[in-house]
Parts: sequence; C-alpha cells; structure tokens
Amino acid sequence: MSRPNSGAPTPTADRAGRHGDSPVESARTLIVGVTGASGTPYAVRLVECAVRAGRHVDLIVTAAGRLVLADEAGMTGTPEEPDLASLWPHDILAGVTYRPAETLSAPPASGSFRAEAAVVIPCSMNTLAALSHGLAQNLLQRAAQVALKEGRPLVVVPREMPVTPIDLENMARLAGAGAVVMPAMPGFYHHPRSVGDVVDFVVAKVLDRLGIAHDLDVRWPGCDLL
Ligand SMILES: Cc1cc2nc3c(=O)[nH]c(=O)nc-3n(C[C@H](O)[C@H](O)[C@H](O)COP(=O)(O)O)c2cc1C
Repeated sequence: MSRPNSGAPTPTADRAGRHGDSPVESARTLIVGVTGASGTPYAVRLVECAVRAGRHVDLIVTAAGRLVLADEAGMTGTPEEPDLASLWPHDILAGVTYRPAETLSAPPASGSFRAEAAVVIPCSMNTLAALSHGLAQNLLQRAAQVALKEGRPLVVVPREMPVTPIDLENMARLAGAGAVVMPAMPGFYHHPRSVGDVVDFVVAKVLDRLGIAHDLDVRWPGCDLL
C-alpha cells in the first residue's frame, strides 16, 4: 500500500462537502463508502484501482471509518481533517472527492447524482443493519440507499467474525433488495505471499463484479495435484 508523505492533498471537495471544479455527476463516478469495520486496506486499494481504471471516486467515510483507517491503514491528520495524502499519491488523489459521512447535504444524497455504482467496503454490522432496514442516517447510508432505489449496482463488503443470526438476516435482506453482498472472505488459491496479495483478492472480486478492468494477479492458476 502506498503511503506517500509529501505535500498536502488536493481533494476536490472541501470539508463541508462542497465541490470545487470536480465533476458533480458522472456515469463514471464510483461511490466508495468506508465504515468502521476492520478491513480498511481493502478500501484504500479499491480506490487506487478504480482511479487507475478511469473512474472518479466519491469517497464517503464514517467517523468510525476514519478511526479504523488511521489504525489499520496509517491515515494521518485529524478525524475532522484527515490527510488523504497519507493513503494515496497525488495522481490518485486527483481522482478522489472526499466527503465525511456526517455531511448529509452533498450531491450523492440525491438520485440525480448519477453514479455508476456504490460500494461499501468494509461494511460494519452497524451500517449493514441500517442499510437492510432502509435507514439513511448519514451520507454513506443515503448514497447506498439511493443506489438501491435507482436500480444502480450496490456492492456491500461486510466484515465481522463470527456473525450473529441478526447479521445473517441483514445480509439476506439486503441481497433480497438487490444489493450484491460480498463478505470479505479472501481465498488462497492464488498463493498469496503478502498481506497485499490477500487484499488484492477481495478487491479484484469487487472490481470484477462491477466490470471495472484491473490487472490484479489473483486468478486461480490451475492445479495438477488432483
Ligand atoms: C479497530 C476497530 C475495528 C472494528 N472492526 C469491526 C468489524 O470488523 N466489524 C464490525 O461490524 N464492526 C467493527 N468495529 C465496530 C464499528 O466501528 C462500530 O460498530 C461503529 O459504530 C460502526 O459505525 P459505522 O457503521 O457508522 O462506520 C470496529 C471498531 C474498531 C474501533
């Protein structure tokens, strides 16, 4: 994972979620929601791959998500003003609009913001419960709800272990409502040699499901042992 330490980021929205000169709506915009579940390196890698694949990423992060990004992915700055340059180099940041989830009055809260798809990665059991019950208590939940109601792809990547019957019911409810539920369950048949390889397995599955091109090397190489 890249952790550049030079210079200040130039996110294309200010902390209130207002836009500068970034695209306000685009069919090539991917909404990436990050919650306070473990697994934030998945989100860091997904954003990088999506931008490299030509997407603009609308990045929505909950308060708990910012804590876990700091803890797991090494994000610096403050909860109010995270330093995204600690997660991505400038060429990636140029394709990212950051919005704190507390900012409800931002374009992704509306169906008229025509994002290509929305991904919640990692998804906490808290946000899973909200989404499966039609709640939209912050911008992340609202953007996911909008994707569902507008018939756009919504990919949810829950992370918890073990899960309760409540969590399982919530996943089933959400899948029944049209979301693609992809629990973070990395495989090992690509013979990972690093944590990054394990992360790439999950990210590649998400990108494949969205039809976004990537060159992550996670395919099953075949097996002649049997
Ligand atoms: C370090 C850390 C790791 C956590 N990991 C998980 C997790 O894997 N799954 C989960 O459902 N909640 C996890 N939590 C708890 C959530 O952060 C908590 O439920 C929070 O309220 C989620 O809020 P959000 O859904 O608005 O992001 C974790 C919390 C911390 C501090």
